[in-house]
Amino acid sequence: MFSPVEHLRIVYDENMIRTRVRELAKEIDSLYGDEPLVIVCVLKGAFLFFSDLVRALTISPELDFVRLASYGEGMKSGGTVSFTKDIELSLEGKHVLIVEDIIDSGRSMDFLLRQLSARGAKSLKIAALIDKKGRREVPVHADFVGFALPAGFIVGYGLDYAERYRALPAVYCLPGVGK
Ligand code: IMP
Ligand code: MG
Repeated sequence: MFSPVEHLRIVYDENMIRTRVRELAKEIDSLYGDEPLVIVCVLKGAFLFFSDLVRALTISPELDFVRLASYGEGMKSGGTVSFTKDIELSLEGKHVLIVEDIIDSGRSMDFLLRQLSARGAKSLKIAALIDKKGRREVPVHADFVGFALPAGFIVGYGLDYAERYRALPAVYCLPGVGK
């Protein structure tokens, strides 16, 4: 039978992801407690990480969504980032936690931090499922990191290659794709 994943190599399986997401949720619970908090999902890549993470929390944050576009499709994000969907909630006087799939060059998060920091939030932090720290082109610090990935292009659990593989429940390496 045809398997959509036979050419993929597993990097983080469902158990590893579930365990790590629970650990991150505990840290987030204890950092924010009863403080007003907005958690912002960066579409599309973070949608599964975000939905698992917010369901693992015991606190009750407000939730919102943002979508960013960067010039150039596929493997490498370009230098210019813009909103294709902005958030809708007010951030005034609230803590804000951005939930992102991967931080690579740092350009997307640098853009989003700059945009949101002008909106009166009490604090602005980032939770990233995967941090490719060695690939930064602009300095961005992730406050909560699921996994640190030194190299490779990965797909699954929300992450795509040309819009494929997002629905896979685990994270896989796409062999032959450099990065
Ligand atoms: P940055 O602006 O270079 O940090 O790009 C981050 C974005 O590039 C992520 O949100 C992903 O959408 C995409 N990206 C970077 N590395 C990968 C990868 O290995 N697999 C899938 N998408 C990736
Ligand atoms: Mg992304």
